[in-house]
Amino acid sequence: MSELQLTILRKLNETPNGVIADSRVSFPDVEAKQIQAAVTSLQSKNMVTFKPLEIDLWALTEEGLDIVEHGSHEMRLYDEVCKALEGLKIADVAKIMGPAGKVGQQRAFKNGWVKKDGDKLVKGVDAQPADKTAEDLKFVHANGTLADAKELADLKKRKLVTKTRLISYEIAKGPEFALEIKKLETDLTIEMVQSGSWKSAEFKPYNFNAEGAVASSGALHPLNKVREEFRQIFFSMGFTEMPTNMYVESGFWNFDTLFVPQQHPARDLQDTFYIKDPVEADRPEDGQLWENVKGAHEGGKYGSIGYRYPWAAADATKLVLRTHTTSVSSAMLYELAKDPKPARYFSIDKVFRNEAVDATHLAEFHQIEGVVADYNLTLGDLIGFMQEFFSRMGVTNLRFKPTYNPYTEPSMEIFSWHEGLGKWVEIGNSGMFRPEMLEGLGLPKDMRVHGWGLSLERPTMIKYGISNIRELLGHKVSLDFIENNPAARLDEKLV
Ligand code: PHE
Repeated sequence: MSELQLTILRKLNETPNGVIADSRVSFPDVEAKQIQAAVTSLQSKNMVTFKPLEIDLWALTEEGLDIVEHGSHEMRLYDEVCKALEGLKIADVAKIMGPAGKVGQQRAFKNGWVKKDGDKLVKGVDAQPADKTAEDLKFVHANGTLADAKELADLKKRKLVTKTRLISYEIAKGPEFALEIKKLETDLTIEMVQSGSWKSAEFKPYNFNAEGAVASSGALHPLNKVREEFRQIFFSMGFTEMPTNMYVESGFWNFDTLFVPQQHPARDLQDTFYIKDPVEADRPEDGQLWENVKGAHEGGKYGSIGYRYPWAAADATKLVLRTHTTSVSSAMLYELAKDPKPARYFSIDKVFRNEAVDATHLAEFHQIEGVVADYNLTLGDLIGFMQEFFSRMGVTNLRFKPTYNPYTEPSMEIFSWHEGLGKWVEIGNSGMFRPEMLEGLGLPKDMRVHGWGLSLERPTMIKYGISNIRELLGHKVSLDFIENNPAARLDEKLV
């Protein structure tokens, strides 16, 4: 702890209300900058709180200081007139007093201290008048201000005083006030875990605002850069970002609300990671939603015959690592159903699939997903929308192929022509969400929703010319990667 910090803490301890109202008054010899450094660090430990005060102080200009010492120009002129027994020749004023003579003459006239007699100046009053200008300036010099604001403004106009803004601080005791600084732990060490001392240790809170020692160095990961490009495309098309901060979902949201039957192979252990501890999720609070979803699967709801199997609650409450971000879209559409209106949502985040890792697959990857809700949308709207969306990424040549998703009908795979590979490559999957899903979530019958998804890794690999995904993520990524890929450097502008 610095000497100054200790001094501040002691002073706070002495003051009856625990507040230092103005640090400048309590510590007149310490610079504001030093006070600020001391209290900022004390505040981070919750030992004090503080707020800056801005105080206007008036100081004398050189001319003002001169007047304090030698009297005002008008007084000096009056003195000169008194000295000249025969009267003072107006022509001599400038010679004796220099440039100040003119001001002195004007003001002395105005005050009635001198008057004209032919080409001379003579006394206007017999008794020596009081030099108010000099008196006022003396007061400002000592106190930094003047009670009469008009006088002060007048002195300012005459360029005899100037305003300076001073920073000071009001400091008060914080919740952890003490006269000593506790040393807070910054690291959780093996020793602390072994001895159990971590239980009573106090840890320094994270400073999420720290910019790091060298704020200008480093590089964004290529995935982050491409992610940012996609985000900007979505924002430019009026989308809002969905909250995707939950990797763990219930089977209910990941599958059942999406009309994925409980026998679907995607729900098998070979495809989905199930959570061991805890195993089970709570049922949704909305009992009607639960019944809607169950009903849609079993059949006879929303004009559909359903899948006609006994729907098991136990499968819906299993916890899984989400296999797609469509679980989040589903939850957002459920929220939208409370106040249905046209909406555009997107997300770009991690999903998990129990897949064998190879050159192009990882067990976790990122999904880009967009969802558009509007009245009476058609498949033509979806195709037109896809063309617009991908053209903003510079991909114009699209083809669509019918495919199957449990939650969309019709569904389409999106292909684009890859010049380098000389073939059509699949770049995404899309479709119109089924009424069994949308009506179960509570959306009106004439509201249609289309959606599409693609991986973030694939376009990133294409952009950076990477053929093995392990060159992009994980411990095999070369340190030279950034060096060799100028596009990955932080200062390189996003396209
Ligand atoms: N969830 C799909 C996938 O995993 C993507 C998708 C989203 C398809 C929305 C249609 C509608 O590939």
